[in-house]
Amino acid sequence: MKIVIANDHTAVELKNIIKEYVESLGHTVDNFGTDESASCNYAEYGEKVGRAVAAGDYDCGILICGTGVGISLAANKVHGIRAAVCSEPVTAALVKRHNNANIIAFGARIVGSEMAKEIVKAYLTAEFEGGRHADRVACIMAIEDKN
Ligand code: RB5
Repeated sequence: MKIVIANDHTAVELKNIIKEYVESLGHTVDNFGTDESASCNYAEYGEKVGRAVAAGDYDCGILICGTGVGISLAANKVHGIRAAVCSEPVTAALVKRHNNANIIAFGARIVGSEMAKEIVKAYLTAEFEGGRHADRVACIMAIEDKN
C-alpha cells in the first residue's frame, strides 16, 4: 500500500520507528511530518495528511501527536476523512473493519513503540466488512453535506 505518515514535535522518534516498521511490512511510506524537536502545530500536519488521503494520493494515513487527538481532529475536518485514535490493536482493527477509517492515529505520550507497531499492524491487515457497516459509514459521511 501507499501510505502517508505525519507527526508533530512530540513524535519524531516514534514516527521514524513506525515508518521503518511499516516499510518492513512491504509498504511505501511518505513522511509529511516534522523531523525537528521544535514545538509546532499538529493541525498543519493533520490537515496535510487528510487532504492527501482524501485526494486519493494514498491508500491510508498514519498520524501521531502527543495523544493522537489533536492531529486526528484536524484531519477529520477534511471532507472524506475518517481518522480514528487508537491505543490498542483491537480497536485499531475494528476502526477499519467497521468504520472504514482511512487514517489511524495514536499518541506518542500514550503508547510505547511496540504497542504502536501492534496498532499499525492490526489496522493495516484488517479489511472493511461493508454491508451494514457501509450504510452506517454513509450516514456519518452524509453529515458533512449538512454543514
Ligand atoms: C503538544 O504539546 C500536544 O498538545 C499535542 O502533541 C497533542 O497531544 C494534541 O492533541
